[in-house]
Amino acid sequence: MSSKTLHAVTGAFGFTGKYLTQRLLDEGEAVVNLTGSPKRPDPFNGRVALRPFQFHDAAAMAEALQGVRVLYNTYWVRCNHTDFSHVRAVRNTLVLFEAARAAGVERIVHVSITNADPASPFESFSAKGQLEKALQSFGLSHAIVRPAVLFGPEDILINNIAWALRRFPVFGLFGDGSYHIQPIHVDDMAALMVEQGKLRENTLINALGPEDFSYRELVAMLAEVLGKKRRLIALSPKVGYFAATLIGKLIGDVFVTQEEITGLMADLLHVPGAPATGTTRLSDWARDRRDSLGRIYHSELDRRRDSSRPYSA
Ligand SMILES: NC(=O)c1ccc[n+]([C@@H]2O[C@H](COP(=O)([O-])OP(=O)(O)OC[C@H]3O[C@@H](n4cnc5c(N)ncnc54)[C@H](OP(=O)(O)O)[C@@H]3O)[C@@H](O)[C@H]2O)c1
Repeated sequence: MSSKTLHAVTGAFGFTGKYLTQRLLDEGEAVVNLTGSPKRPDPFNGRVALRPFQFHDAAAMAEALQGVRVLYNTYWVRCNHTDFSHVRAVRNTLVLFEAARAAGVERIVHVSITNADPASPFESFSAKGQLEKALQSFGLSHAIVRPAVLFGPEDILINNIAWALRRFPVFGLFGDGSYHIQPIHVDDMAALMVEQGKLRENTLINALGPEDFSYRELVAMLAEVLGKKRRLIALSPKVGYFAATLIGKLIGDVFVTQEEITGLMADLLHVPGAPATGTTRLSDWARDRRDSLGRIYHSELDRRRDSSRPYSA
């Protein structure tokens, strides 16, 4: 009989899930990929079993989780769209939690977001807050990990800021850009999740990188790294959203949502004074990738439209 522990990762071929899965495999563990994209190319050469999401059928989902000791949940949808919504993502996640309990999963490591709060006026932060509360009253051993923003080869936000800096002569900040952001490297996030998976006690932990930038500082740092002299101009959030919508229409993606702008400006991707949980500095990482960072636009909707392709890096 195998001595490996079985772990389930939602989106194991996606962004966070891929780094997390690599770490679990490196530790000699077995991993099941729970996914809505069964045709996504497998970066692990068949070492990971594949089980489709069964959000419409809790019993089938529980069946898919049989034998799993730890469930790592990265499942979420970034925004509301014709094909997906936060409301549905909350409902689906609750089915996943119930299925985990029915299958005898011992621990859930759930990814949330900094400052999640059921009372938040921002739908994505309130939806994440509702899920945190649900998990905390669920009676199952759990860890809630709250990243601010993730960076890494396949990320969207940092890459697409770099993409815009490469292409446009000026860069529009939302407001004065004085609100903060604490990006964590995706592999530091993965390491934290593996560590949290080994505990038994219930935890709630922020996932923050070692650098705390104002948004203006972050954009200026990326411009400097890329060798692009760009004027950073302050736009009202309305004008900023209008410009972002226009870019989104031109490239066929959600460039940035109104809620992402207002959430960022409300300092929700920032936890002042909280200790860093990652060690990789975005500024060093960006410098190492200065030739490739932002060369290709990373499209959220393309990842959904064509789920037979890997996430571009
Ligand atoms: N990326 C960031 O900067 C950031 C910042 C703060 C918090 N987070 C949180 O970190 C977690 C992981 O994020 P990630 O960027 O690593 O995500 P990801 O790999 O792109 O996706 C994670 C999972 O969610 C599913 N998913 C994503 N968008 C979906 C959609 N529109 N419809 C249906 N399923 C969808 C994926 O499905 P498939 O298996 O079908 O691909 C996958 O199982 C999420 O909870 C996210 O809210 C991320």
